[in-house]
Formats: sequence, structure tokens, C-alpha cells
Amino acid sequence: MSENQTPTTTGQFYPAEVETRLRDEAAQIVSRYPQSRSALLPLLHLVQSEDGYVAPRGIGLCADILGLTRAEVSAVATFYSQYKRHPNGEYTVGVCTNALCAVMGGDMIWDKVSEHLGIGHDETTADGKISLEQLECNAACDYAPVVMVNWEFFDNQTPTSAIDLVDAIAAGQPVTPTRGAETVATFKEISHVLAGFEDGRADEGPAAGEATLLGLRIAREKGWTAPQLVDDTDVQPEAHEDVTEPSVDVAAAEEKAEEAMEERSSAERRTEPPESAVRPGEPKKSTEMKDDPEPGTGRDAGTATEDDQ
Ligand code: FES
Repeated sequence: MSENQTPTTTGQFYPAEVETRLRDEAAQIVSRYPQSRSALLPLLHLVQSEDGYVAPRGIGLCADILGLTRAEVSAVATFYSQYKRHPNGEYTVGVCTNALCAVMGGDMIWDKVSEHLGIGHDETTADGKISLEQLECNAACDYAPVVMVNWEFFDNQTPTSAIDLVDAIAAGQPVTPTRGAETVATFKEISHVLAGFEDGRADEGPAAGEATLLGLRIAREKGWTAPQLVDDTDVQPEAHEDVTEPSVDVAAAEEKAEEAMEERSSAERRTEPPESAVRPGEPKKSTEMKDDPEPGTGRDAGTATEDDQ
């Protein structure tokens, strides 16, 4: 163990040359922020790019570099689902089951893929190839239902196409996303990109597909344009005008509002029928409703009993 190596509660350390490299890269990341602790999110991606997940030694390294406690680093790492707290597969397959994708077939895709791989949410196949997860909306609803592999888009999926996709990944065959990069990088590689180190592939493949561009194309065909923005940056307040002062007399406005409320309450009191009165068209109030138990249960619906606990 070298003097610089970061101790962890599990006794795990990075080999000296790995730690030196990670610290060098971490220094580049930290230098991009006015306050070092702001670099925590990319640093977590950085240690994840080394270990394939945020390991205890990664937590220790981030804490040491940023002057934070291990608890503070862990609190952030456990908050975001992009940080994995146990060894992750080489490829994370995410099936969007958020509202729009779900109704367009996402739920069915999830069921079929999960059954096919024999794993559930946040679980990994025995060969360490694929981790499966249910995703929230990926802002790709125009291509629903969407599946992502290491954050690359596979649009307009079906249960069959999604199973073909995971089979190809499991067989080690390259897969091509619908948009973006031409092939999918590994989870470790993509974590390094997310840490802030470009892999030179940002311009590969189509950035926007037909569904995204459709509205723009129609607008161009019809000659529709957005209203011009009014540039009010040149409008200066009068020299004597104090812009922090409200333009209305607050006290007078409050007084007026109170008067109006009082007036409204009095009017309601004058027009409100007595408790027992029944308005035309309103069902007659029945005490039976109040005491009616849930049919067949002998108790009120929604009332928990000891049996429910
Ligand atoms: S609901 Fe799936 S991408 Fe938006």
C-alpha cells in the first residue's frame, strides 16, 4: 500500500497505478468546477468506469479527493439509479415502463424480456453480460416503446425485437442503436464518457429521427413560424423608479380582499339552506349510507382491522 492509497472499510484498495490514473483524471474533473464537491457526480461515474459499479473503494476515493465523508458520498451514490451499488453487467438493458411506453407495449416487453433472461429489475445474468432494469421516461416518447442499452436508444420495440436484441448482446454480437452511436459501448466505457471524457463518437449516427422532426417539417411546409420574441433587454427603468417596490399598495389590496371575503361569507350565510334541507335534484341524504358496511364483510370498507396488518 502506498502512502496515497485510500483505505476503505472493506480493506479493498486500487492498485497503485490504477489509483494514480484515477486521481489524475479526477483532478481534471474537479478543475472544471468552482467548488470541488460539485464534481461528485462525474467522479462517481469515474470510479464506476473502473469497477463496473460504485464499489466501497470508489466511495473511499471520492470522499478522499473531495474532502467529504464516506456517508455523504454514499448518500449521493444511493440516490441516483445510474450509480450501481453492486457489480453490474457489461450491458444494462433498460425497458421503459413509464406511462406512454407502458401503454404502447413497454409492459409486455418487460414481462417477455425478464422471463426470457430469467432475471428481474436490477438483476444480472449469471455470465455477467446483461443487467436488466425498468426505466422511467427517457424523453423518447415519440418512439415508444423504447428500450435502452447502456443509454443508447432502441426505438419502437416489440417483445420479439427486444428478445432478439438481448440474444445478440448475450452472444457477443454488435448491436446498432436506432439513433446515436453506431455501436453500443460497454457499461464501463460509457461510465467513463459520463465522467466527462469524450470517446470521439458524439457525432456518429442520426441525432434526431423522423418522429422528432415531423412537427418541424410540417411547420416548414405550411410556412408556420413561432412569434417573434420581444427583446426587452434595452428597456431601462426610469431613473427615479425603484424596481424593488411593488407597483400596488399591498396593505390596501389586502384590506379590499378581506372585505370581499367577508361580503361573500355573509351572502353564503344568507342563501345557504338549513342542514336538513334537500336541494332540487340532489339525492336525499341517507343515514344508511354512513353506516352501511362493505357487503359481506360486516365492516366499513377501507377500515383496517387487525387481520389486515
Ligand atoms: S414514456 Fe418511455 S420514453 Fe417517455
